[in-house]
Amino acid sequence: MTKTPQDQAIIDQIVAHVKAKFSGEASGHDWFHLERVWKMAQHLAELEGQLTLESVTSATATTQPTEIDHFVLEAGALLHDIADWKFHDGNEQAGPEAATALLQPLGVSQERIDHVCDIIKTISFKGAGVVTPMKTLEGQLVQDADRLDALGAVGIARTFAFGGSQNRAIYDPAIKPQLHQSFDAYKKEQNHSLNHFYEKLLLLKERMNTASGKKIAEGRHQYLQDFLDEFLAEWDGQR
Ligand code: ADP
Ligand code: NI
Repeated sequence: MTKTPQDQAIIDQIVAHVKAKFSGEASGHDWFHLERVWKMAQHLAELEGQLTLESVTSATATTQPTEIDHFVLEAGALLHDIADWKFHDGNEQAGPEAATALLQPLGVSQERIDHVCDIIKTISFKGAGVVTPMKTLEGQLVQDADRLDALGAVGIARTFAFGGSQNRAIYDPAIKPQLHQSFDAYKKEQNHSLNHFYEKLLLLKERMNTASGKKIAEGRHQYLQDFLDEFLAEWDGQR
């Protein structure tokens, strides 16, 4: 579903809102994170669209390309961190409530508001042992885009920015990573930033929803791995 001029006008208002709210934020959840996720979600949608078209034009394919609601894709990407539980005492309702309060007065249909809220509720990583499947293609694309921004060079910068914003140490070899089996246990995590690589970042590659997202994740994953090798070698004075 392509965007109508009315949809575009609403997206413009959402952009203005999140830009004002998140500019200068210092934990890695700033406007530029939202902008990168917004652009990457659209880029992945294009790549996945091409893949689907290739498969339908091939003689054996029987599936039809899934039509993406581009308004939901873009609004979901722009609003996915609108009131993240990490900054709202672990409250998972804060995000959907803030999105509804913004979208309802703009005349967005309840169906689309519910879809955007579902993306916001489901998007977060909730611990190594917790599986939270995204129901719709729009949600899967936004989640992949958000996860890609946790990987690679940008992901490394964001991790230490977040740790610093929470007064966390960069590393303490005595405190080992844990594979959290519940969202509650993951939420309570207060340890040094290097553990975050083992508790979340290195697990993301296997959890990508789309083939196009996974391909990009592989390169960014390797970059994390190389960073960790160098970091730990320097820590021990080997390099
Ligand atoms: P999610 O929706 O999965 O929570 P976000 O887009 O909100 O992802 O960003 C999470 C990012 O914040 C992580 O990828 C990381 O860079 C940073 N972060 C979150 N928790 C920690 C932590 N415990 N230690 C260091 N960085 C963290
Ligand atoms: Ni995010």
